[in-house]
Amino acid sequence: MLADDLKTLLATQYALSIKAQYFHWNVEGSDFAQYHDFFANFYEEVYSAVDRIAEYIRTLQEYSPGSFERFQELSIIQGQTKVPRARLMIEELLSDNNTVIDLLNQTFASAEQENNQGIANFVAERLDAQAKHGWMLRSFLKDQRA
Ligand SMILES: [Fe+2]
Repeated sequence: MLADDLKTLLATQYALSIKAQYFHWNVEGSDFAQYHDFFANFYEEVYSAVDRIAEYIRTLQEYSPGSFERFQELSIIQGQTKVPRARLMIEELLSDNNTVIDLLNQTFASAEQENNQGIANFVAERLDAQAKHGWMLRSFLKDQRA
């Protein structure tokens, strides 16, 4: 059901945004500034989708979740309480980003099934945005050419 997919998506996007902000705060190493800025752009962009997802849930005449407790129940990505090394932070965000892309594809299918073009269009935009994040995350992990 589309509303249920959107609730999962809301909690998962929120969790991804918080994790990237956590990495922004705690990353260390010689490339600190680069990682610190990258994580800032990442969490801000991901967070920018949260309000629209919640308001789409309301257009479907359902109430939107909005507490740590509910987000914890609904999110399909795990939180992080340790402080991984910078490269592991990137690997973790890449894995989570792929999880979000799968969830967006599922949500897109639900939106089409329920003939909701507006939400399908929004979800397609999110797929584009998360694909761009995926490109950047993968680029960090690529070994340098000799
Ligand atoms: Fe900051």
